[in-house]
Amino acid sequence: MSLGRTRGVALQGIEGALVDVEADLQQGLPKVMFSGLPDAACRQAPDRIKAAAENSGCPIPNRRLTVNLSPASIPKVGSGWDLPIAIAVLAATGVFKSALVDDIVHVGELGLDGSIRPVRGVLPVVLAAARLGMTRIVVPAANAAEAALVPGISVVPASHLRELVARYAAIGRGRVPEDVLVLPTAATEVVLVPDLRDVVGQDEGRLALEIAAAGGHHLFLSGPPGAGKTMLAERLPSLLPDLEPAQALEVTAIHSVLGALPESGALIVRPPFVAPHHGASIPAIVGGGSGFIRPGAISKAHRGVLFLDEAPEFKPGVLQALRQPVESGEVVVARASGVVRYPARFQLVLAANPCPCGHGFGKGVNCSCSPRARRDYMGKLVGPLLDRVDLQLQVRAVARAGLFAPAGESSAEVAARVAAARSLQAERLAGTSWRLNGEVPGPMMRTGFLKLPAAATLDLERALERGTLTLRGYDRVLKVAWTVTDLAGGGTPGRDDVGVALTLRSRSAVAA
Ligand SMILES: Nc1ncnc2c1ncn2[C@@H]1O[C@H](COP(=O)(O)OP(=O)(O)O)[C@@H](O)[C@H]1O
Ligand SMILES: [Mg+2]
Ligand SMILES: [Zn+2]
Repeated sequence: MSLGRTRGVALQGIEGALVDVEADLQQGLPKVMFSGLPDAACRQAPDRIKAAAENSGCPIPNRRLTVNLSPASIPKVGSGWDLPIAIAVLAATGVFKSALVDDIVHVGELGLDGSIRPVRGVLPVVLAAARLGMTRIVVPAANAAEAALVPGISVVPASHLRELVARYAAIGRGRVPEDVLVLPTAATEVVLVPDLRDVVGQDEGRLALEIAAAGGHHLFLSGPPGAGKTMLAERLPSLLPDLEPAQALEVTAIHSVLGALPESGALIVRPPFVAPHHGASIPAIVGGGSGFIRPGAISKAHRGVLFLDEAPEFKPGVLQALRQPVESGEVVVARASGVVRYPARFQLVLAANPCPCGHGFGKGVNCSCSPRARRDYMGKLVGPLLDRVDLQLQVRAVARAGLFAPAGESSAEVAARVAAARSLQAERLAGTSWRLNGEVPGPMMRTGFLKLPAAATLDLERALERGTLTLRGYDRVLKVAWTVTDLAGGGTPGRDDVGVALTLRSRSAVAA
């Protein structure tokens, strides 16, 4: 009896670091010493462990216990440290040999009865363990399905401390074959997404949606209530391709940290669609909280769509806070407990009524807003965000007659063109760090292999001279023009393609 040692993983964002968990039992007054930057939940582990061990038939002697988590510089957050600490302590008591567990990663919360309870963030913990060369990890049985998504590491599900201790003791006596515990296999997640087939008319809206999907362009839809803005936005995910395997793991890891995985523990393969309410707080949108720093809606929407419906109603601070992640694809949250980064590469869709009264204005519409109120309402978007949105479109309500028009194309038909257009972009942008037209930095659009012949940009030059287009707007139009051409089968954009792109930028109520 004295020193026991095993491993844990500390998460910072969805990145993990390997932690040595050591427990030392010495003669002396019963007392617990804890070192290695544990948070409040982690520091309570010894209390839970004492009860859990007692109820698992292996009581911990009342001595002086020292627990050390190293490296000490990384914060150890949450109750997932119960299990590794318990295993280190029990190894120190001599119930089984420490050498059996010192290269196994453990994660899990302990109930006082000794049950091993699920925790959030198991997937990124397992991903990190595998990446750091660990070959075996013990996880709560309820988290086994998500853990099993990670290749290259053996996952041992455990549901009770008593079983786990018995297993290690038996292995020590040479009794149990190493891989006695069987892995569950993960199912594929099925998501039902609304289909574009339901949308009547709205040719321009459909076109904008298809271009947004193909080139990864941010989209702004303005128009009177009932025009179908929400309906269109909700159908964007149905046009996007499946996530690539590495992206799928990344997205599922974020949802694991949020405790928002599907019951089956299946891999998330479809781009997420996240539509936070306009009353949401800044931490809810961008991430935050005290102690454990939670990812916000923008990280939940990573590799998918972030939809801000009634965008001007969001808190000004929220819209401001979106600027940085929209540029960089990640969010940095700083708190007293440290700095955490979460991925946040989302496609932004904004929708807005043209004025605060909600009636909309125009012929025969009963709007009570002053021109000033209308301007101010949209103005909330202009400064912070709208400049970065390639597609800006005014949606009109479909007239009664339009409702009897023949049904439009289905999402599957449009998604096929989107996929083809994306291949063309990937080919053209091979060798750069971008895959989609929407990702290419503005100034790049006017130089090198993306530079268009003068004849194609004639109308753009004029708009620039007249002052109806800013230089940033100019670059954004070029990106959309490439996507228009890619959707039409490829080649170099001509004057017509640029014309379509220009139209799709200047139709919103606040065209710039
Ligand atoms: N083009 C359309 N095709 C089919 N239904 C539509 C269309 N436009 C509006 N609707 C109907 O009107 C409802 C309201 O549309 P919605 O998308 O919520 O409008 P908005 O967000 O612009 O206020 C939809 O649920 C749908 O039933
Ligand atoms: Mg709406
Ligand atoms: Zn109004």
